[in-house]
Amino acid sequence: MAKKVTKIGVLTSGGDSPGMNAATRAVVRTAIYYGLEAFGIMRGYAGMIDNDIVPLHSRSVANIIQRGGTILKTARCKEFFHADGRKKAYENLKKLGIDGLIIIGGDGSFKGADIFSREFDIPCIGLPGTIDKDIAGSDFTIGFDTAVNTAVEAIDKIRDTADAHDRLFIIEVMGRDAGYIALHSGIATGAENILIPERKTDVEELVNGLLEKEKRKKLVNLVVVAEGDDFGGGNEVAKIIKERLPNADVRVCILGHIQRGGSPSCLDRLIASRMGYSAVECLIEGRHNVMVGIVNNRMSYTPLEKAVKAKQKINNEWLKIVKILAS
Ligand code: F6P
Repeated sequence: MAKKVTKIGVLTSGGDSPGMNAATRAVVRTAIYYGLEAFGIMRGYAGMIDNDIVPLHSRSVANIIQRGGTILKTARCKEFFHADGRKKAYENLKKLGIDGLIIIGGDGSFKGADIFSREFDIPCIGLPGTIDKDIAGSDFTIGFDTAVNTAVEAIDKIRDTADAHDRLFIIEVMGRDAGYIALHSGIATGAENILIPERKTDVEELVNGLLEKEKRKKLVNLVVVAEGDDFGGGNEVAKIIKERLPNADVRVCILGHIQRGGSPSCLDRLIASRMGYSAVECLIEGRHNVMVGIVNNRMSYTPLEKAVKAKQKINNEWLKIVKILAS
């Protein structure tokens, strides 16, 4: 029989994502509702190791549901991947009596949680908080919808200026290992080409497609590139295109970290609230070491180990849609 959880620690880890605050708020308020104590662990696992841990009350999470970033701060902590670091972290939690952890982050953060929960008697629940949407076991990740809408808004603006000058724009969006932001924002903005890390780019096909459009005087072309595509991002793609299409007026725009900030969308606030609530219930019910996700609009629970390894699959049909609609 699993031990009863009485004090919950919540942390945000890895790259921040809009909606992390909404998730923190949901965790704290649900914990209080069920008579548990809540603690905020600052700067992810780094705060666990440095004992930077503060009690959180209902008022501590007031007025944050609409805020981007994370009031708990975040970090990528290498020390937690060493046994010594994890032991220190465990001792700090023990001193405070924290007996359950909720980790809001991406696959790297779950990997840390998975190792920690195997070594020590503290159950861990993960919530997928990443703009990249590269976690298996959930149709959504907290922050993706906001990030993709930020990208769409920016690309629409680029289209205006591209149209005014008859230019070819290469727009780089975030996604070191995942092409979801590129795929969704590219389809939603009518991009001609979308280059993503999950697919090898056929250079000849890309260049021939653009040449053919040049011939028939289709002068506005938008190519959306994920930063981790196989050329190595927007600037590299632009070099190749400039070489092969010397007459084209090519510009590059790298959207960068603006995609990580901003007020979370309604969808991100909603899923963050549902997931935060469900994470506390998991700990109370003794469902341990899982990531809480949403699949087909229902809560789903994936062992942390699987949320780490698996990546979502890109749907080939979506790539076909891009080709057909951009003709
Ligand atoms: O994981 C989210 C993400 O924004 C990726 O899309 C991007 O490659 C990476 O983080 C950037 O990390 P950093 O903020 O450390 O440069």
